[in-house]
Amino acid sequence: MMFPSGFVWGAATAAHQVEGGNSNSDCWALEYAKPSFFIEPSADACDHAARYGDDLAILAGLGLNAYRFSIEWARVEPEEGAFSQVALDHYKRVIDACWSRNIQPVATFHHFTNPRWVARDGGWLDERFPDRFARYCEVTAGAFGDQLAYACTINEINLPDSLFELMARVKAKYPDRVAAGEGALGAVIESFFLFSGVEGYTARAIRAHELARDAVKAAAPHVPVGMTMSIQECEAEPGGEAAVAAYKRRVYAPYYESAKRDDFLGVQTYTRMRFGADGKATRRPPPEVELTQMGYEYRPQALGAACRDAWAATGTPIIVTESGIATQDDSRRRAFIRSALESVSVAMADGVDIRGYVYWTLLDNFEWMSGYAPTFGLVGVDRRTMARAIKPSAVMIGEFARANSLVQNASGADEVLSAGAAVGVSDR
Ligand code: BGC
Repeated sequence: MMFPSGFVWGAATAAHQVEGGNSNSDCWALEYAKPSFFIEPSADACDHAARYGDDLAILAGLGLNAYRFSIEWARVEPEEGAFSQVALDHYKRVIDACWSRNIQPVATFHHFTNPRWVARDGGWLDERFPDRFARYCEVTAGAFGDQLAYACTINEINLPDSLFELMARVKAKYPDRVAAGEGALGAVIESFFLFSGVEGYTARAIRAHELARDAVKAAAPHVPVGMTMSIQECEAEPGGEAAVAAYKRRVYAPYYESAKRDDFLGVQTYTRMRFGADGKATRRPPPEVELTQMGYEYRPQALGAACRDAWAATGTPIIVTESGIATQDDSRRRAFIRSALESVSVAMADGVDIRGYVYWTLLDNFEWMSGYAPTFGLVGVDRRTMARAIKPSAVMIGEFARANSLVQNASGADEVLSAGAAVGVSDR
């Protein structure tokens, strides 16, 4: 199972989940609302804004060749039209730190969070959103866009559509949290990404993506640009076929259509969804099935299925920009990664054009409303000292990357330790 030369092997993070102190974002406001939808605040996160050099040293030392991170709009444009040179310089240093270690920087311009001023105006519900987002992308890409290896505009652009029914239930169940959140935002709760999948969202989001893509392309014509999508394997239980088709028409098809005009499509897969004859979708599997910490079905092969679906619908080259598992049992993570990659490799042999695999996530980090309990990371983070601990799965994926195949040296505790020593933690 050799992968083609130039195959991207990476790990991902997102600004709000790792940097720490993202206090000018809408998400931060919601975390500190009382009561809150978030079980705990992001607070210092992983202190990655200061420790990115150490973290990149770990990633490079493992043998990976790409780092996917996100640029935080709330830092780059803290008030409308006021761009922070210090924030732009920070991300420029992150990009330089990547290249100096032969790591390809893959930047995402929007990963769930908005600046508070954008939220106050209605966030994703506001007709000005696409133009505002594109202007931020234009300034940002003008500062360092040409130094990126790949650019992702909006992370999981279709997630609000897929969460629509769940969030409607959540809102109905917790009116006090909605009220506190709206007070903190100074806007309706639907201004926040995870709640925004209401009437008008899809068209507005696609427009935001296309304007952003054009802005990045104008500043950096040679940099491949795409959106990323949440694409799960969709399985019809008896009588559920029409429900699968309806779901794909609503949640995938409009974005696939737009992605046909992009350089690549980022595929992000975590599990399999099942659709019953009643038309309802659920990520909750039958009781005998192994579950991850997120309550999702353990289903690594869903990744190959999602890539096949995306490729058949778009013909656009794919990069797996996220795939991962929340578990405390790292041996299950290793098995998950290997099986997911096997399903990718079989899909590639069948003609699906997949250019890379980026694991979610590099660090145990802030898992949004679930806080710090779910651990997706290749590297553990001590929440008190911020010390990093490399897990065996990190060593394994690094070996795959070095070999560009799914072969592995007899990996074990000794090698993990030597990898840890080799990467050190000193070159901040
Ligand atoms: C998101 C990440 C998130 C991950 C695990 C994806 O939906 O892009 O930010 O942490 O899934 O739930």
